[in-house]
Amino acid sequence: MTETFQQILEKDQLSKEDIIRLLQSAKEDEKALFAKSSDVKLKHIGQNVHFRGLIEFSNICKKDCLYCGIRASNGKVNRYDIADEQILKAANFAYQHKYGSLVLQSGERTDPVFVDRIENLLHEIKKLSNNELGITISLGEQKRETYQKWFDAGAHRYLLRIESSNAELYEKIHPKNQNHSHSTRLKCLQYLKQIGYQTGTGVMIGLPFQTYEDLANDILFMKGFDIDMVGMGPFIEHDQTPLYQYKDQLMSLSDRFRLSLKMIAVLRIVMKDINIAAATALQAIDPLGREKALRIGANIIMPNITPTLERANYLLYQNKPCIDEGAEDCTNCMEARINMADGKIAYGEWGDSQHFKKRVK
Ligand code: 5AD
Ligand code: FES
Repeated sequence: MTETFQQILEKDQLSKEDIIRLLQSAKEDEKALFAKSSDVKLKHIGQNVHFRGLIEFSNICKKDCLYCGIRASNGKVNRYDIADEQILKAANFAYQHKYGSLVLQSGERTDPVFVDRIENLLHEIKKLSNNELGITISLGEQKRETYQKWFDAGAHRYLLRIESSNAELYEKIHPKNQNHSHSTRLKCLQYLKQIGYQTGTGVMIGLPFQTYEDLANDILFMKGFDIDMVGMGPFIEHDQTPLYQYKDQLMSLSDRFRLSLKMIAVLRIVMKDINIAAATALQAIDPLGREKALRIGANIIMPNITPTLERANYLLYQNKPCIDEGAEDCTNCMEARINMADGKIAYGEWGDSQHFKKRVK
């Protein structure tokens, strides 16, 4: 006899088939899935939401991912690189406003000037915040020594999305050259973990060629790798990228949005104590997208504190929200939104992944 949806939700261990069933749930079953994931979150994480002030300091990128608006081959992008002084000013804003942590993100560069610059910035941020700001970095694939250097300089969390756990699908959404390889991506994630970073990954949801089985495997990959943090959201086509040609084969935006919420819900049930971010891309589809994610399982939000002038140039996908607001406006807006989602902002705390703490004990 086939199990009911409710029976699957009550299982201790979910198989790949169970996960696929949950991801394919009909509208009337979604409620039960979200109620369960919300319960798990409240029980294991509580109502606290932690901020990571996001500084997207440069859109200069040597990679050419077929989905990304700032890929090297996109000649239509105005490239920028925010001066260190401005970055430190944004970091100070995060510190003064008790954000607890920040995320430094940019396009991928591996040249020595860049590597040293980041090392220096990390030291400076630690100094200006009396060692109090937690720092996550999201700077792509690097050599092991570089990861170690940045760790020693004060970064303690790293985000590197696997994009898809399916190597074949990964190949379809990246150009065929040595610069883009699934095995390198995996190796980098292993380095990060070995060095001692709280390690974060994630995938895009609703990619062309992606199946429900791929997504279920993504969740099992995160579990198998014993990841500490996850940020994942819907794929949103960008008309200046090669993947745009498949736009007519994609799920509707609202279906991609629902499926992204379901991925977060299932992941929360499977990995109860990890940090899960409410991805900005959710808000590109639904104005309340991130708040909905917080309600059903996410516990991290990344308010954009990039100086406003450059925000419009960091468009990985179209319809990106909050490109006109200043950092001050974002804080106020976030407060209102999080209260609405029954969350409590935990100011001035790092909000480390509980999973990580248990893993390294
Ligand atoms: N749609 C959604 N997410 C995207 N990213 C890049 N391009 C897109 C897009 N078109 C995500 C990738 C990357 C992260 C920084 O942004 O997952 O890892
Ligand atoms: Fe930035 Fe609302 S989140 S203004």
